[in-house]
Amino acid sequence: MSTSDITVDQVVLSARNIAKSFGAVQALKGVNFDIHRGQVTTLFGENGAGKSTLMKILSGVQLPSSGELLLNGVPVHIGSTVEARELGISIIHQELSLAPNMTVRDNVFMGREIMGPMGVNFAEEERQCRALMQELEEDIDPLALVEDLRLGQQQIVEIARALSVNSNILIMDEPTSALSAAEVEVLFKVIHDLKAKGVSIVYISHHLEEALTISDHAVVLRDGQMTAYAPRADIDLDWIVRNMVGENFDLGTPPQTRFGPPALVISNLSVPMASGTGLAVDQLDLTVHKGEIVCIYGLMGAGRTELMECAAGRISPSAGDVRLNDRSVAQMSIAQRIDAGLVLVPEDRQRDGLVQTMTVGRNLSLASIRRFTRGLFTHLGAERQIIDASIKEVTVKTDGPGAPIGSLSGGNQQKVVIGKMLVTHPDVILLDEPSRGIDIGAKAEVFRILAQHAAQGMAVVYSTSEVGECLSIAHRILVMRRGKIVAQFTHDTTKEAIMAASGESLVA
Ligand SMILES: Nc1ncnc2c1ncn2[C@@H]1O[C@H](COP(=O)(O)OP(=O)(O)OP(=O)(O)O)[C@@H](O)[C@H]1O
Ligand SMILES: [Mg+2]
Repeated sequence: MSTSDITVDQVVLSARNIAKSFGAVQALKGVNFDIHRGQVTTLFGENGAGKSTLMKILSGVQLPSSGELLLNGVPVHIGSTVEARELGISIIHQELSLAPNMTVRDNVFMGREIMGPMGVNFAEEERQCRALMQELEEDIDPLALVEDLRLGQQQIVEIARALSVNSNILIMDEPTSALSAAEVEVLFKVIHDLKAKGVSIVYISHHLEEALTISDHAVVLRDGQMTAYAPRADIDLDWIVRNMVGENFDLGTPPQTRFGPPALVISNLSVPMASGTGLAVDQLDLTVHKGEIVCIYGLMGAGRTELMECAAGRISPSAGDVRLNDRSVAQMSIAQRIDAGLVLVPEDRQRDGLVQTMTVGRNLSLASIRRFTRGLFTHLGAERQIIDASIKEVTVKTDGPGAPIGSLSGGNQQKVVIGKMLVTHPDVILLDEPSRGIDIGAKAEVFRILAQHAAQGMAVVYSTSEVGECLSIAHRILVMRRGKIVAQFTHDTTKEAIMAASGESLVA
């Protein structure tokens, strides 16, 4: 079909009066939502607004409590993901749904293996997988294990799997939260090609500017209700933020502060690549003072994660030293470093940040649990107090501390990962892409909290691939590239200057 055959406002899938409750929580309260043929509908809303829940209903992951779905005007029952796939609907999940101990190829074709006369045709699967990676301009081996990939690469695998289905309707729930600007650019090219083939796309992202560039229609979900709609011509950043949070604000600029003595001193640090060849961190020096907020900006794969994981004791260096308050932590375990006041908010909340089998409350108190323990007993009152304060501080939207962590929306889980480390009152906090999936209001709140703790002497190292964040929070911005710090800026620099130093061009 050529583009000219596509009727511009043909609705392919409609949700009518959809409601969804989880016990007492009413996640969706009678939502109407249309997906248009060959167009991108972006869905905005605060953390916990109900976006993922609505998309799970459209893709057969969950059933609605009430309401109706119409496919090309005809009522349909979408009872499972397999049924959804047969109807031409697939989804890229916000929380990655990959099997870590399986290969990239097996993940891409899981549940719909290509069969030949002799059983599964692995060679054909591998060929198609390679072609998908080429389309996504990624150098990922189809035979690599998913658990050996960076988070951003895992996200690419999740995308490749959805693309391999050749669906008519493709739902993308935060597809780019771990991707670099260059990777996002490639994905947008792919989206453009899909649109030309008549594929309809729903796109969810808290990278508002980014989502803006590909919106044909935008809708805003607030507290389980659709509250605003606009066609492309009327959508701008102000419109989104106003409708999402009910007011307009920007993330601000960091206050000028006087800094104290060095809190964290990293010297001559080298960390080998996980693959064993070359260095992920290459003879790096970094000093962060008490009260100072330092942003480390760089592409995915620049070595930021390895730097932070090494400082926190998760991986070992091949050379160099890390000192906290003028004391080497080289011989300390992760737990000892936390007790000494050096903590990490890790990149991958599912794998490293949260314990999925525990409640929201226990996840929040986990890192500081020793403070509540007297002999064999945990001081429940003290623990509860800290948990309540933390839920309030980082504004977690939850039923209560007893709710399972998996019942929280993606952004709210991320807030728990941050809150959990802040309650330990660290001297140095390392945050690896902490704003993944949190809405603009919550981001402003996190920035305010970090600035407040910094003003009281906490040193902050904040790793990000969103250049705007650097300008809003950092006293000092360091650009990391191929394991080294290659440039340094103060916050009165420009986005362009920072990106140029990282070897990246601005996304159009
Ligand atoms: N399985 C579940 N059990 C209980 N409550 C749930 C479950 N799934 C979602 N919820 C609740 O439904 C509400 C909507 O969550 P949802 O994940 O749809 O939000 P979202 O808009 O996708 O947010 P985010 O931007 O943070 O991803 C939240 O209050 C959440 O806690
Ligand atoms: Mg979500």
